[in-house]
Amino acid sequence: MILLKTQEEIELIRDSARLLGKTLAEVGRHICPGVTTAFLDKIGEQYIRDNGGIPLCKGYEGFPAAFCISVNNVVVHGIPSDDVFIKEGDNVSLDCVIELNGYVADSAYTFTCGEATPEMQRLLKVTKEALYIGLDKCKAGNRVGDIGHAVQQHCEKNGYSIVRELCGHGVGLKMHESPNVPNYGVPGTGALLKEGMVIAVEPMVCMGSKNVVFSREDGWTCRTKDGKPAAHFEHTVAIGANGPDILTTFDFIEEQK
Ligand code: MF3
Ligand code: CO
Repeated sequence: MILLKTQEEIELIRDSARLLGKTLAEVGRHICPGVTTAFLDKIGEQYIRDNGGIPLCKGYEGFPAAFCISVNNVVVHGIPSDDVFIKEGDNVSLDCVIELNGYVADSAYTFTCGEATPEMQRLLKVTKEALYIGLDKCKAGNRVGDIGHAVQQHCEKNGYSIVRELCGHGVGLKMHESPNVPNYGVPGTGALLKEGMVIAVEPMVCMGSKNVVFSREDGWTCRTKDGKPAAHFEHTVAIGANGPDILTTFDFIEEQK
């Protein structure tokens, strides 16, 4: 069942989403050579709790941390660790879900530590563009396949590939609600988008081939099979009658660059 949210509920999700945007910026500004992903997780968790939020990834199906922190060839679901040290040029995806006053927002942003190679910068640029191109399809009357198709087209036309194993999802009262929102698809197919639906759109894009492997040790870490880098950007968005109402924001991140 796909829940429709009232305008009041959407405003409450926006409050949660705003705190999440600030949180990603706060953690992002601590990314520098030598810092561990466990340290980043710790300051982020503290920031969320200090502001009255709850980090929902922590304890979700046994996930041990507040953030998924995924470096270079880790696509998503990287577990923060005292043994993972960030170095100059790394790409670092921060993915976090928070609950504030009972409402849930989900967002991810891929940062670079210092100067990234032009190749890496292009991957991040195209992945972020694909997110916004997908978000543009988030209006009542379109279908989930319209979003996926738009995201896929943009990435593939730029020579990149789309992960198939994971996708976006409904969100707002829980972390994962219906429907699934794949980053690939056929226009005019899939669930019908209605005003008041709230979903997370989250392209996971590989520089090389689309195949991924999940860690046998921890069950979470999702890496590219070919070892090439990947990127991940995610927004929580409400479906509007005439277009998307993007609830999470990268403004706090981008204003500090
Ligand atoms: N934020 C993620 C998503 O988009 C990751 C959830 S996995 C978790 O669904 F275990 F870390 F919660
Ligand atoms: Co998500």
